[in-house]
Amino acid sequence: MVNAGYLKEIERARRDLRALISAKQCAPIMLRLAWHDAGTYDAKTNSGGPNGSIRNEHELRHNANNGLKIAVDLCEEVKAKHPQITYADLYQLAGVVAVEVTGGPTINFVPGRVDSSVSPDEGRLPDANQGARHLRDIFHRMGLSDKDIVALSGGHTLGKAHKDRSGFEGPWTSNPLKFDNSYFVELLKGEQWGLLKLPTDKVLTQDPHFRPYVHLYAKDEDAFFKDYAESHKKLSELGLTRSSSLKMTKATIGVLVTLTVIILSYLYDLNKQA
Ligand code: HEM
Repeated sequence: MVNAGYLKEIERARRDLRALISAKQCAPIMLRLAWHDAGTYDAKTNSGGPNGSIRNEHELRHNANNGLKIAVDLCEEVKAKHPQITYADLYQLAGVVAVEVTGGPTINFVPGRVDSSVSPDEGRLPDANQGARHLRDIFHRMGLSDKDIVALSGGHTLGKAHKDRSGFEGPWTSNPLKFDNSYFVELLKGEQWGLLKLPTDKVLTQDPHFRPYVHLYAKDEDAFFKDYAESHKKLSELGLTRSSSLKMTKATIGVLVTLTVIILSYLYDLNKQA
């Protein structure tokens, strides 16, 4: 599936997404879409994950996904222009572009995700009202680490909460359209009027394993960008196996070698007869 033509189309879609996200200033909700499609992954059963299933109406109706129809509909504009790109790749590409156009790190994007029409049961995404153990249950289930939890939480440098979607209200930082390390800086400043801190944000400063990363990222934006790019790539590739394309390549090489041998022996026989 991922051939030269597909890769070209990905680059064209990337340009369209850049233009769309800049024009509509929708980077935050695009990032949230990518994360919510990927964040249902269960490593044990290899189910859920970045497979485009969030576009299914019943998954979009999951409580955690309130508001994400906006992002799904925006992606349709790009899908219509590049129909061969899977929804799964498109949503993850949108997440990568959202981080990039708002000033965040470059995230290496590997295409090849397959769409699924099967949605996981509700309840695989984190509940903002819970604590450290819950965060670990959710992220470790995906195969992600404590460090990934903190780095990825830095995605809240973008956007804001909406009362009618989650019950929470307001942005985490003073410039919600700029991807930087200010989420961590604000987290360490404590309560501030107007800026949001979810219970799951606060636990990052309280848990002894999470806290050192919060301090590191607050004082060293380069360290945050490096770790964020790695964790985001992991999240966006959960369950993505390249073994099928590898098998294809091996099979193709096998066929080519066999054909070459047949042709050479045929030519050899012809030569002998002449
Ligand atoms: C750690 C567990 C997490 C919890 C409990 C959580 C919870 C929430 C909640 C309650 C909202 C507000 C939704 C709304 O009212 O519009 C939100 C928004 C958002 N989340 Fe998270 N989130 C988590 C992790 C992440 C991760 C890993 C990312 C990306 C890497 C992310 C990116 C975003 C973005 C960009 C928004 C803003 C959306 C907008 O402005 O429309 N979140 N999150």
